[in-house]
Amino acid sequence: MTATKRPSPPANPLLLVNIGQLLTVSSAAAKVGPRRGCHLKELGIIEDGAVLCVGGRIVSVGKTKEALRDPWLKKNRRMVVEIDCAGKVVLPGFVDSHTHPVFVSPRLVDFEKRIEGASYEEIAAAGGGIRSSLEAVRKTAKSALTAKVVTVLEEIAAHGTTTVEAKSGYGLTVESEMKSLEAIKEAASRWPGTVVATLLGAHVVPKEFQGCSQKYVEIVCKEMIPLAAKRKLAQFVDAFCDKGAFTPGETEQVFEAAGKHGLKVRAHMGQLSETELRPFLRFRPASFDHMDHVNDDDILELAKRDTVATLVPGANYFLGLKEYPNARRLIDAGVPVALATDYNPGTSPTISMPMAMSLACTHMKMSPAEAVAAATINGAWALGVAERKGSIEPGKDADLAVFEVKDYREIPYWFGANRCAMTVLNGVVASRD
Ligand code: NIG
Ligand code: FE
Repeated sequence: MTATKRPSPPANPLLLVNIGQLLTVSSAAAKVGPRRGCHLKELGIIEDGAVLCVGGRIVSVGKTKEALRDPWLKKNRRMVVEIDCAGKVVLPGFVDSHTHPVFVSPRLVDFEKRIEGASYEEIAAAGGGIRSSLEAVRKTAKSALTAKVVTVLEEIAAHGTTTVEAKSGYGLTVESEMKSLEAIKEAASRWPGTVVATLLGAHVVPKEFQGCSQKYVEIVCKEMIPLAAKRKLAQFVDAFCDKGAFTPGETEQVFEAAGKHGLKVRAHMGQLSETELRPFLRFRPASFDHMDHVNDDDILELAKRDTVATLVPGANYFLGLKEYPNARRLIDAGVPVALATDYNPGTSPTISMPMAMSLACTHMKMSPAEAVAAATINGAWALGVAERKGSIEPGKDADLAVFEVKDYREIPYWFGANRCAMTVLNGVVASRD
């Protein structure tokens, strides 16, 4: 389903009991707004917990003993599907707030060139990179792109993700960007989880517009954005603002056009080089993503706002970089930080949120608790869906991940292995067995 509609609710109420650690990720102390500073590590853990979900929503959260004493449950026990978690860990389904799933092929030549020493920028300048993924998407039928996205959605659910942002951005013509967004919409309708769609027409200047990027920016602003808004194909507009992609001025034009058509904005910022963020704050971006390069003044500004810094360490890992975004500097200054996979064929071919969390712990010195909140509630803030997603609280959507571990710290610890045993997506159970 897309973020704007709910699926028909599942037939039976669902009760999960005997949860070893139930990570509610609710925090009484945290003020309304994304988690920042010391509140990022508050997980609201209930031992021997239980969760009752009815009609695709969470209705109660507590200890197993108390849940079983509930009068409503006693009366309706026969219609309730009961799942014995046998001491496993349950947490909110991950909210992966940054993915690029609409591509056709992996970029194996780029992969080898990088191993031989070429950089991401050098490969892109020589005709590889994003531009080398365009032809296949332009030529591929919508039905085939839809099938690809459905496969990705099923795979991410198997790894614990229940809400995902999905960007277009590998077509870069009006027709192929709309086709990509339609594929996302169609795939979302075949999946019980929640998809938030983003138009990334401003991913890179395609080669037919090289040397006249303004002409391409006008197509993004005057054709792609109005069409995506009119056909309700996207909730967000994104831009890759960096050297080799779009300038700050061009990015502002894209943001202006998005606002004019009622779409919210987010951007790839500071991945390869630093861009001053202050001029963009008037657009109230939901998120700045990557943030490898950011200055102290901008950090001070972000600490006062709800714009989330979405860190994607999978990209640093896969590009073989020594440096990772400075999560400690951001968190300790009070900037709300989220974690996402950045699933894409060029810089981060992983759909695994536990992998992103593991990298955040080992390379960015985030604690496992901070990584959990960054991958759930702050991802939900980054997508503007925190009222419904990102924590296990009565009234929120029934989005849960059950992990075959005794302690939540094992989730980032066992890197490279999938310990997710089951997910619940809007009340619908998807089990690995
Ligand atoms: O987030 N930086 C821009 N976009 C992607 C890479 C896309 C690609 O290389 O295909 C990213 O890293
Ligand atoms: Fe990206």
